[in-house]
Amino acid sequence: MNYQWYPGHMTKAKRMMQENIKLIDLVIELVDARIPLSSRNPDIDELGKNKARLILLNKSDLADASCNKAWMEYFKQKGFHVLEVNAKTGAGIKGVQGAVKEACKEKIERNKKRGILNRPVRAIVVGIPNVGKSTFINAIAGKACTKTGNKPGVTKGKQWIRLHKELELLDTPGILWPKFESQEVGRNLAFIGSMNDEILQMTELAIDLLAYLMVYYKEELTKRYQFVQEEWTPLETLAQICENRKCYKKGGEPDFEKGASLLLDDFRSGRIGRITLERPGQMTESNGNEVIGSDEKGIT
Ligand code: G4P
Repeated sequence: MNYQWYPGHMTKAKRMMQENIKLIDLVIELVDARIPLSSRNPDIDELGKNKARLILLNKSDLADASCNKAWMEYFKQKGFHVLEVNAKTGAGIKGVQGAVKEACKEKIERNKKRGILNRPVRAIVVGIPNVGKSTFINAIAGKACTKTGNKPGVTKGKQWIRLHKELELLDTPGILWPKFESQEVGRNLAFIGSMNDEILQMTELAIDLLAYLMVYYKEELTKRYQFVQEEWTPLETLAQICENRKCYKKGGEPDFEKGASLLLDDFRSGRIGRITLERPGQMTESNGNEVIGSDEKGIT
């Protein structure tokens, strides 16, 4: 299957970020904990260079807890500040202020030395569509936030949200579109539902997902759909899911399309369990470097 995105939107969003980046001290980048590399846009490193960086592994509630830990370690080793969060429930959000302070320590110190004491850290929240930027901004800002109005040099209409005297957020999330370095990245985005399902062949996608789940999450699959056998092919497993969920066509044969949608929906909403689709030990970065660290499950 060929995965497509909509590059038309990209230029405008990138321009917005380039215009504002000079006003920013810190880039808060949200990634999807289920696919921490595929849900990044490689341009962000260029855009955010010389800025403090904080990565939030969002939707951590849907991802494998041991993989979350491994990815946290991975990003730390790369020099990022990193936190595991669930923007939807607010879990982990309390830790963000401390992480921001830590990430901007040098800048705050420098300001102090120059006698600038009341200048808050200014941050922008970036990430690909649907990663949870708006949910995060709402979670961190809550109702107590005050909009501080336009500032000189900021594109007209841009608003800053003052969270407290030390941190302001640009309230427009920076939308970055994923860049497909490979078909694998496209497929991972399709798995989590970041692509229009109408343009995808759901049965093919479900079979690819099952091929992965049958290796790493067989127990979870068996628990949800019963009797998933080691020797089955992904198609046989899909047939089992159809049977388990009574997805039949008129003649009584399995309705694979329906079973596929059901499986993907179960996966995306966390009903199969907490699942991570990328493991540090098995990934190759966009620059071709292998992502180091693995055990038999592919994680450190
Ligand atoms: P965006 O601004 O980056 O485009 O994303 P947005 O905040 O709109 O979030 C996209 C979807 O992801 C929303 O679900 C949101 O509730 C969900 N979401 C955000 N953060 C988390 C998280 O940490 N965990 C989980 N499980 N979900 C999260 P939706 O289906 O569009 O709406 P709804 O189901 O919340 O009504």
